[in-house]
Amino acid sequence: MRSHYCGELNANHIDQEIELCGWVHRRRDHGGVIFIDLRDREGIAQIVFDPDRAESFAIADSVRNEFVIRITGKVRSRPEGTINPDMPTGEVEVLGYTIEILNKAKTPPFQLDDEHVHDDVKLKYRYVDLRRPLMQQNLRMRSDVVKRMRDFLDNRGFLDIETPMLTKATPEGARDYLVPSRTHPGNFFALPQSPQLFKQLLMMSGMDRYYQIVRCFRDEDLRADRQPEFTQLDIETSFMDEEGITGLMEEMVRGLFKDTLNIDLVDPFPRITYAEAMYRFGSDRPDFRNPLELIDVSDLMQKVEFKVFSGPASMDNGRVAALHVPDGSRLSRKEIDDYTAYVSQFGAKGLAYIKVNDIAKGVEGLQSPILKFLPDEVALEIMQRTEAKDGDLVFFGADKSKVVNDALGALRNRLAEDLELLQGEWAPVWVVDFPMFEYNEDEKRWESLHHPFTAPNTTDIEAMKKDPGSILSRAYDLVLNGIELGGGSIRIHDADMQSSVLELLGIGEQEAQEKFGFLLDALQYGCPPHGGIAFGLDRIVMLMGGCESIRDVIAFPKTQTASCLLTSAPAQASNRQLRELGIKLAKPNKPE
Ligand code: AMO
Ligand code: AMP
Repeated sequence: MRSHYCGELNANHIDQEIELCGWVHRRRDHGGVIFIDLRDREGIAQIVFDPDRAESFAIADSVRNEFVIRITGKVRSRPEGTINPDMPTGEVEVLGYTIEILNKAKTPPFQLDDEHVHDDVKLKYRYVDLRRPLMQQNLRMRSDVVKRMRDFLDNRGFLDIETPMLTKATPEGARDYLVPSRTHPGNFFALPQSPQLFKQLLMMSGMDRYYQIVRCFRDEDLRADRQPEFTQLDIETSFMDEEGITGLMEEMVRGLFKDTLNIDLVDPFPRITYAEAMYRFGSDRPDFRNPLELIDVSDLMQKVEFKVFSGPASMDNGRVAALHVPDGSRLSRKEIDDYTAYVSQFGAKGLAYIKVNDIAKGVEGLQSPILKFLPDEVALEIMQRTEAKDGDLVFFGADKSKVVNDALGALRNRLAEDLELLQGEWAPVWVVDFPMFEYNEDEKRWESLHHPFTAPNTTDIEAMKKDPGSILSRAYDLVLNGIELGGGSIRIHDADMQSSVLELLGIGEQEAQEKFGFLLDALQYGCPPHGGIAFGLDRIVMLMGGCESIRDVIAFPKTQTASCLLTSAPAQASNRQLRELGIKLAKPNKPE
């Protein structure tokens, strides 16, 4: 139906007779001449209809925004003075010969260039929202990125293999989405939180190198970088260690940025241990563009009279840390109060601070509500350690290490944003040497930091059982600009080790058999050493496209409460369906 895309026309097409199809982006009446901006996936072309062709002119006059039309015409250069250098097609226009309305459109629910449309309206009319050039660009970038990933992996011998969607629970730490079985009443499939166990089984099947671009489902609290269904680039390989895997993945990510955005990421990506990341940044996904760092002052605070500080400073799992903010004295009382309220979300009971007015005057030159509790030499030692200068401010957190890290880690990000401190554009980093287990104080049990199939960095099962807290895992996370892009590990390939880890996590033999019996069996029939990683595809594209949320790079995303405003899913199941499934609702359906 067309000879060209609207957006591809340029001076090379002058004098050619062409046919275009698309949506009416805008129609303008200019004293007897009608201009139509015609839009398709590739861009916008300006079509001109003059009254000489009366029939076409009348139709052109009748079209409205978002009508779908087909035109024929001749490309010509725009008259002097009307060239639009901001438009790729801005040198030319099309003199319209004929125009055909392929479909009318109701007045759209919003104008495509209106920036103040409520998100709910955009999601309800997502097909209109997706017509916006920015959204088209995002989805196209996503398609490009996927193609490049596939090419990279295909070229290196990875096989694209599908794994089941109707399956058994895979523990990745979220709630499962369940699907009732009709043929086995009372039983449920779980949608995969990841293909973790299947990809391991594929290694045991001798597939050697696997990848899949795969939907994963997790019923968890949603945020800007979390959706209930999202896409992973999921990878697993045999006979490769962490150096090999992270090296290969780095090459892939670096290539993606180079080929898609012409950006050179650092080579190699820096690495930081989990312990150092927590110590310096209070987070295991540090944003390396942010120059602020936590500085430990626990040792200085052990003997001070101020219990708020000396308590945590002397506790095993306590910490007192300082966050030095250059030029931070400009923060007003109200701003500091706001930050205090902000850190309280993370459990912090306060946010002490010292403002540095004139360091040459010693403690006289400092200003703070806590100075009266600190010996002069401690206050001055803190100033030295943080290298605070006149005009700076130092915040303090004192509590259990977890609270201090969460609170100051988040404050560090918030300050960088508010005070515009971020340096450089792209900061990838591998986080390695995670603890294998984390103690859950509330439930009084050990939990995996990653998933329970991650290998510990020891083969000594007894040592691991004796002191689980001291064991590190062979896991690695890739963080970009403070966002976790991907995570993976070398896996346990020894049946005894796997059983011991499950046992340590409080999963008894019987439960382990019920849940993971198939894996434990498979480990005994010739399992190669193997490992892998999964990347959040949505997050990669979000970052590459400079988007605020992964919703902007998913064609049909869900809302904060995991619903789809376009289709109104989830919805009631009919009584008949429920009967077939053998399901009785606690709160029965409204009458049909
Ligand atoms: P993990 O749980 O770290 O690892 O997930 C891998 C990556 O998937 C992305 N991601 C998400 N993206 C959008 N919405 C979500 N709700 C969401 N949850 C996770 C993140 C994350 O880094 N099986 C392991 C991988 C492995 O060990 O190989 C796994 O799933 O970018
Ligand atoms: P108070 O004696 O409770 O008024 O606290 C004095 C200062 O210490 C105030 O600025 C509080 O915000 C701060 N503060 C209180 N508890 C903590 C804490 N756990 N960590 C950091 N600062 C705190």
